[in-house]
Amino acid sequence: MSALFDPLELGALELPNRIVMAPLTRARAGRHAVPNELMAAYYAQRASAGLIISEATGISREGLGWPDAPGLWNDAQVDGWKLVTDAVHHAGGRIVAQLWHMGRLVHPDLGGGQPVSSSATTAPDFAHTYEGKKPYVAARSATYADIQRIIGDYASAARNAVAAGFDGVQIHGANGYLVDQFLRNGANFRTDQYGCSIENRLRFMTEVLQAVGDSIGMDRVGIRFSPNILVQGVDDCDPIKLFAAVAGKLEGLKVPWIELREAHRPTSAGSIPTAPVSPAMRPIYSGKILLNSDYDGPSARERMADGIADGISFGRPFISNPDLVQRLAVGAPLSPGDTSTYYSGGAAGYVDYPMLGEAQAA
Ligand SMILES: Cc1cc2nc3c(=O)[nH]c(=O)nc-3n(C[C@H](O)[C@H](O)[C@H](O)COP(=O)(O)O)c2cc1C
Repeated sequence: MSALFDPLELGALELPNRIVMAPLTRARAGRHAVPNELMAAYYAQRASAGLIISEATGISREGLGWPDAPGLWNDAQVDGWKLVTDAVHHAGGRIVAQLWHMGRLVHPDLGGGQPVSSSATTAPDFAHTYEGKKPYVAARSATYADIQRIIGDYASAARNAVAAGFDGVQIHGANGYLVDQFLRNGANFRTDQYGCSIENRLRFMTEVLQAVGDSIGMDRVGIRFSPNILVQGVDDCDPIKLFAAVAGKLEGLKVPWIELREAHRPTSAGSIPTAPVSPAMRPIYSGKILLNSDYDGPSARERMADGIADGISFGRPFISNPDLVQRLAVGAPLSPGDTSTYYSGGAAGYVDYPMLGEAQAA
């Protein structure tokens, strides 16, 4: 068996294999953002993953702008997530919560009030709302007090995650959301201690990680980035320099693992990737690096051989192949997913993808 099936230590987490389920928003939690039995069934079906990273989960009402996505700021949500974590653990798996503040990508219809970001900007394109797609509205620039409050929300959501039975958390630093809005200079135009220089743009991420690490132990914390693609209007003029500095910061903080959505082909939104940053991060950062985007079994095995990736995370393949680990082990073909049910709500296209034996029988 290839290295994909070797165990892997991510801080306090011990993974039996290196096939990780990437975070996938599936919009099944309802208007109150409370996880339920259907979600528990979906995650339990995928428990053979070395690690499940949950769908992005709002740390606060202010930070959650995706219809029917889950949250982690109140007791009902903690109780709802307990159904999920119990089901995953019962099925022999491990799961961390992806903690999310969407920043300027929260439409006021969902979050309440004007969205907040690193700077006063408006995201391009359209927000998903309960009344369909609407243009984004202008965000206001976060004050120092906002920043401290939001960092507190991250810490409190991390404590809630542990109370809900999660094995740890992943900070969502990717895809043009709030942490990314501070990190990359395509969205951060501040001139105070949170903007301009690379050191300053790293500050918000650093303070979030420190607060979360102080709350639940840094050995249970990871972070995700999308360093080499333009996402939702966010990119950087020098990604390699920026993410080499990020690597140094994470090394100092002793963050045990990172996940990079490091594209090597244009994304479905048409963003053309710049050069990968992982070769520059690897010599600086001694934690574990998971790589993501567009992998299948053969390309993941090949990638594992080049000495940069410690594991591979799979997104879309896990939607339509709950038993992806077994399929990769035996070289079975992967089922295609139905994009029309990604965010449609309900059981269809969510918990009804066949397992290998069922697929063969069908
Ligand atoms: C339906 C869907 C939902 C997604 N939701 C999230 C999310 O909640 N958080 C996140 O960081 N990335 C999210 N992504 C990005 C995936 O984690 C992943 O980076 C992307 O699908 C590329 O990996 P893949 O080629 O293995 O699918 C989502 C992607 C899809 C297709």
